[in-house]
Amino acid sequence: MKNQIYVWDYMVRFFHWTLVLVFTIAYLTGEELDLVHAYAGYYIMGLIVVRIIWGFIGSKYARFSQFITSPTAAIDYLKALFTLKNGQEHEKKYIGHNPAGGWMTIALLISILATGYSGLKVYGLEGNGPLAVSTAEYSQVQQAGFIKVSDDEDHNNEQGEEFWEEIHEFLANFTVLLIFLHVGGVLLSSRKHKQNLVKSMITGYKESKSDK
Ligand code: HEM
Ligand code: HEM
Repeated sequence: MKNQIYVWDYMVRFFHWTLVLVFTIAYLTGEELDLVHAYAGYYIMGLIVVRIIWGFIGSKYARFSQFITSPTAAIDYLKALFTLKNGQEHEKKYIGHNPAGGWMTIALLISILATGYSGLKVYGLEGNGPLAVSTAEYSQVQQAGFIKVSDDEDHNNEQGEEFWEEIHEFLANFTVLLIFLHVGGVLLSSRKHKQNLVKSMITGYKESKSDK
């Protein structure tokens, strides 16, 4: 009989499924619905920051120290995954994230944060959000002679906005690419290891004999 091991604590599970929901909302509202989009984006950035803190203080399998391995371990794992017929040995080895899953987690966290930051820059250059100089401050500074707004500077600002828009769009789509790889990886390793990883992310439990 296999043991049930509690792997994903409530924070990791809440983080994951809320992120899936709000990320979808943010992605779909990018072209319009400014306010909904901005708030979805803030919420996502908040979730990621909390998850990073949880990566240091959370339960065993939530900690970065538990699932950040050497890149070689991730490559070896992937090689084995593609050639493996029966995943029992790996199943015994990795209870939390496998080495490839660990690196994918880090890549997703960084990519989503970078998407959010670039979104803040676009929003700021449009005069909104925390990175914007408010109209009042802007005219005070202008009156005090600290900044001179010439046509050239206005033009630079527009160019800056376009630049950050491109970056924001690129990062959002790059994150979506990572998500496809992530879901593909989850489904593949579920099949090879004969483990329902999606169910584990819902209930928190995995079946295993190992205690690593
Ligand atoms: C972190 C999750 C986020 C995702 C997945 C995301 C995704 C997107 C997407 C797909 C677009 C449409 C790009 C295009 O086709 O032109 C967009 C546009 C935009 N996003 Fe985000 N975004 C995120 C966060 C944010 C945040 C935090 C802000 C600022 C508060 C923001 C501000 C904007 C703005 C102002 C635009 C409009 C750009 C334009 O006028 O074309 N985004 N976003
Ligand atoms: C917006 C889409 C998604 C994003 C941004 C995302 C992001 C993430 C992140 C950051 C983790 C690491 C969890 C942690 O340690 O806190 C993770 C794990 C996981 N995700 Fe997703 N995910 C997405 C969609 C999905 C979907 C649709 C599924 C189901 C098919 C899924 C299944 C899983 C599973 C099973 C794990 C745990 C993997 C393991 O056992 O090592 N994810 N995801």
